[in-house]
Amino acid sequence: MRVAVLFFSLAVFIFGAEYTTSVSSLYQEGDSKVIGRLLPTVEVKVLGKVQDKTKVEFEGYIQEGSPNAIYFAPNRRILVAGMVKTTKFDYKVLETLKDDGKTWNKISVSLLSDETEFTNDINGLYQKAQKMYSDNCSICHVLHNTKEFNANQWPSMVNSMLSRTAISKDESYLLIQYLQKNASNMPWHKQ
Ligand code: HEC
Repeated sequence: MRVAVLFFSLAVFIFGAEYTTSVSSLYQEGDSKVIGRLLPTVEVKVLGKVQDKTKVEFEGYIQEGSPNAIYFAPNRRILVAGMVKTTKFDYKVLETLKDDGKTWNKISVSLLSDETEFTNDINGLYQKAQKMYSDNCSICHVLHNTKEFNANQWPSMVNSMLSRTAISKDESYLLIQYLQKNASNMPWHKQ
């Protein structure tokens, strides 16, 4: 029993969950062309360094037949990664399920990212987002509760308000992830 616990801790130490802190570009090994981008707050397994990039493995959901938008949960447009339309990349299907009448595949992808600052402190990252939200989005009106809108509504809300704030486009990805993951139809549970 104790040995198992030790092994488990060791495994978590070596393959511990890390999270992306910013939006980064994605590449295939041996090719400098950007094939997509990886959003912040995505759980990744760091597989190692390849030159100046990091090989990461991450999971997400795709609607059957359209692998270029990888989402955090079925029927919620919370991007894990957005791939360039014409790109072909390998992925492993882990599970197939139905949600709201549509067929979704849970997939695993491993690609190179130019993210430089992974964190294992996801709560710290969400606190940073929460602070960005309350500092910038309660100046002209009360801070809207994250549950006032669903995950699909938040991106356009933020985008329409962005120019009224000091938040940069790059920073806005973290804010959007935070709002979407705390939206009215989240967290998502498998039926
Ligand atoms: C400079 C003032 C100002 C700032 C800063 C501001 N807002 Fe607004 N917000 C408004 C006004 C004015 C409205 C009323 C509708 C409109 O003008 O679009 C509004 C409306 C909204 C609504 C309601 C929309 C609806 O359809 O019910 C949401 C949600 C919202 N803002 C979110 C945000 C978020 C998120 C931020 C920070 C990124 C933010 N606001 C920052 C001025 C601001």
